[in-house]
Amino acid sequence: MSHRVLTGITTTGTLHLGNYVGAIRPAIEASRAPGVESFFFMADFHALIKCDEPDRIAHSSRSIAATWVAAGLDTNRVTLYRQSDIPEIPELTWLLTCVTAKGQMNRAHAYKAAVDAAVAAGEEPDAHVSMGLFSYPVLMAADILMFNAHRVPVGKDQVQHIEMARDVAQRFNHLFGRGQDLFVLPEAQVDAEMELLPGLDGRKMSKSYDNVVPLFEGGAQALKDAIARIVTDSKLPGEPKDPQGQALVTIYDAFATPEQRTAFRAALRAGLAWGEAKQQLFALIDGQIGPMRARYESLMANPAELEAILQDGAAKARAIAGPVLRQLREAVGLRPYTATATTATAKAEKAALPVFKQYRETDGKFYFKLLSAGGELLLQSDAFEQGRDAGQWVARLKREGWVADAPVQRSASDADIAAALAAFQDA
Ligand code: TRP
Repeated sequence: MSHRVLTGITTTGTLHLGNYVGAIRPAIEASRAPGVESFFFMADFHALIKCDEPDRIAHSSRSIAATWVAAGLDTNRVTLYRQSDIPEIPELTWLLTCVTAKGQMNRAHAYKAAVDAAVAAGEEPDAHVSMGLFSYPVLMAADILMFNAHRVPVGKDQVQHIEMARDVAQRFNHLFGRGQDLFVLPEAQVDAEMELLPGLDGRKMSKSYDNVVPLFEGGAQALKDAIARIVTDSKLPGEPKDPQGQALVTIYDAFATPEQRTAFRAALRAGLAWGEAKQQLFALIDGQIGPMRARYESLMANPAELEAILQDGAAKARAIAGPVLRQLREAVGLRPYTATATTATAKAEKAALPVFKQYRETDGKFYFKLLSAGGELLLQSDAFEQGRDAGQWVARLKREGWVADAPVQRSASDADIAAALAAFQDA
């Protein structure tokens, strides 16, 4: 399997420049690396935990999806979806909930913070705690484990959640894996970059400090207005200025080449007025995000186009989630009555079944083949650029049996191939 990276954003607001520099831009860059399979989603089930304003959630989801696409996410390469379009996720959440220790959830930072706040206010400890909030980390574990993500880029505040996902995965593997791992154990990836961008007042850029520079909302004017409000010292035009520790300079750096950084500092030391420095900062940022903003506005004005992209993403995601969940249901004992095999006989039967093999050749391309129970070659696939596409064809052939336009060469009679594929539908 290629290396899988997964990122979710809770849909309770719109994105600001800090989100772009800290999360979106690096994630899009990383998604272009060879051998990486990326998953991006709008965590709208998570939004319900914190927000009871339906219109806000709906707008936020649409705005965040449009932002990903406008910022350059290639949805042919990556999988972009809404969490709530994947019914396998809440189903997996339940399977995980049943192996999660309540004591471990009691220690979750978000829950403890809510309890501490209530106690400090003289209220019952659980006064403001819904079961959704309490179970938040289990839903998040399902997001990650559903797609067997290897790596999850997150801010520091989310690291504990990834550790919980690992623990739950480990426990599930141990209880139901029959010696084989059902889940990949995910790793948190915390980039220093994600924390860096200061807001207007020099503190970390964050909605809760009301110091954000909007990314696309409000157009170029809102960007200009926000930049005008960046706090500087009170040195006059012509006076030498110390670039060190200025939020304005740090924000500039996030968009500048090394040469531009040096030149900007030199100009400030030589007396560049803060007003002019702000104009330069605006020109720099708008030069990069201006074209993206145009695409964002067009996507926001044309919901059908965006919806189609998301439907496509949901189909791709479910092509992976469906087979995974079927295997998990089987593992925990949720089985059709016709599947009466005990573990021991299931193992014996497995040995006598045809198999799909997926592999990568020295040409760097991905292939699969279908072998009969006796090891005879039945199907040989054409080359795929993406391992995921090979995987999706395997999943589809297993699910639907023979598909007329499958990109494969047949090496056996149609009847033998059909019989071999039928074995997967019975399984
Ligand atoms: N809890 C994350 C946040 O608030 C959002 C999120 C939900 C997420 N599910 C996820 C992030 C899975 C990474 C992986 O930032």
